[in-house]
Amino acid sequence: MPTETPAPWPHYSPAALARVTDMVRRGATFDYAGSGVVAELESTFSAAQGGRHVVSFNSGTSALFAAFAALGLGPGDEVLVPSWTFFATASPLLWLGAVPVLVDSSAGPGVTAREFAARVTRRTRAIATTHLFGDTVDLDELVAFARARDLPLVTDCSHAHATTFDGAPVGTFGDIAVFSIGARKMISGGHGGLLVTADPALADLATLVGHFKPRTRHQLRTADLRRLGEFALGGNLRMSPLSAALALDHLERLDEISAHHLANLALLDAVLGRHLDRPRASERSDNRTRYDIVYELRPEVPTARRDALLAELTQAGVPARAPATRPVHRIVATAQGGAPATNPLVRRLQKLAAGAGGDLEMPSSARQHDRMISLESEYFYGADTAYASEVARRAKRALAGTGAADS
Ligand SMILES: Cc1ncc(COP(=O)(O)O)c(C=O)c1O
Repeated sequence: MPTETPAPWPHYSPAALARVTDMVRRGATFDYAGSGVVAELESTFSAAQGGRHVVSFNSGTSALFAAFAALGLGPGDEVLVPSWTFFATASPLLWLGAVPVLVDSSAGPGVTAREFAARVTRRTRAIATTHLFGDTVDLDELVAFARARDLPLVTDCSHAHATTFDGAPVGTFGDIAVFSIGARKMISGGHGGLLVTADPALADLATLVGHFKPRTRHQLRTADLRRLGEFALGGNLRMSPLSAALALDHLERLDEISAHHLANLALLDAVLGRHLDRPRASERSDNRTRYDIVYELRPEVPTARRDALLAELTQAGVPARAPATRPVHRIVATAQGGAPATNPLVRRLQKLAAGAGGDLEMPSSARQHDRMISLESEYFYGADTAYASEVARRAKRALAGTGAADS
């Protein structure tokens, strides 16, 4: 009997489903005070991220906005951002009037300290980086470089929920780490974002940006900011307690879930890894998350082979595609042209689009993306590895003789 495609991630435990059902029955579907299960999620995540302060939001995008706002970024401030990331690492900067400066990555999907350093100007005020597909660059170098230049570092850990660097959780590097816990992420509440920082004043500012007085009246850590608690800063960016309960289920089972994920990945790597390379990352990064399971053509294979390979794999029933996260410079290029907008936010996007430079200026990330295939990770988190075995079998048949390594 053919193996059926499993239900895509997220899956939840019976206990979590019972808890959410009970919450709905009791009308416990909102939370202004950051109490109950929202507090439980934040404190459990804090324990997993070296005891740093954790503030929850309704999305990763909201958490990134709060991070940039807490750092005081505003009009004209340049922020270095990887060219290759999900666009939400950059888009909240436009709301603040800050200017994302896209930086190409040549040695792998991640931007290195050296590559960021080459783009620093007098106007640079911060750096944001992304652990794309769960891999990291050498984070100690990046942190040391940011410190030496006195530039705050925001790390977007949305793909790297279970990744460590030198054994330390990725959320413990830099000034603020942000995790989207939405959609098909390894820890998913459906929608949600978590902001992590060691600095109590940054945690308070982020809380003031996203939360409301039932929380900000009581929960601010720094004396100076407490007087703002009654009014707060007006964002209604709170996480739903239903999302918190669902995400907590994954967080409490993170080791088990990532072990299942690795078992699925081992089956896929055993076949695909024989014909294709894994993108370069720091050897000191332990990636147990592989959001978007990416492989790249070997150096001797022409880029044009990628699309044919995707067609062969798809034809054979392998859920392969180009990596879903595309370089931002390619996405913003779609906003080019047309009359200059009167709306200032739209004008900022137009300016970013006009200056994005295209593949001529960002050749490395574009070329890497064009040479990659990706499997949809949502099918490869579960305890049952039968589907991964079946996909590996189909991939083996598709790849045998066609020579992914041939021109
Ligand atoms: C790297 C990265 N950053 C930020 C986000 C935005 O998160 P959210 O969708 O929770 O707003 C995503 C979402 O997929 C992402 O992949």
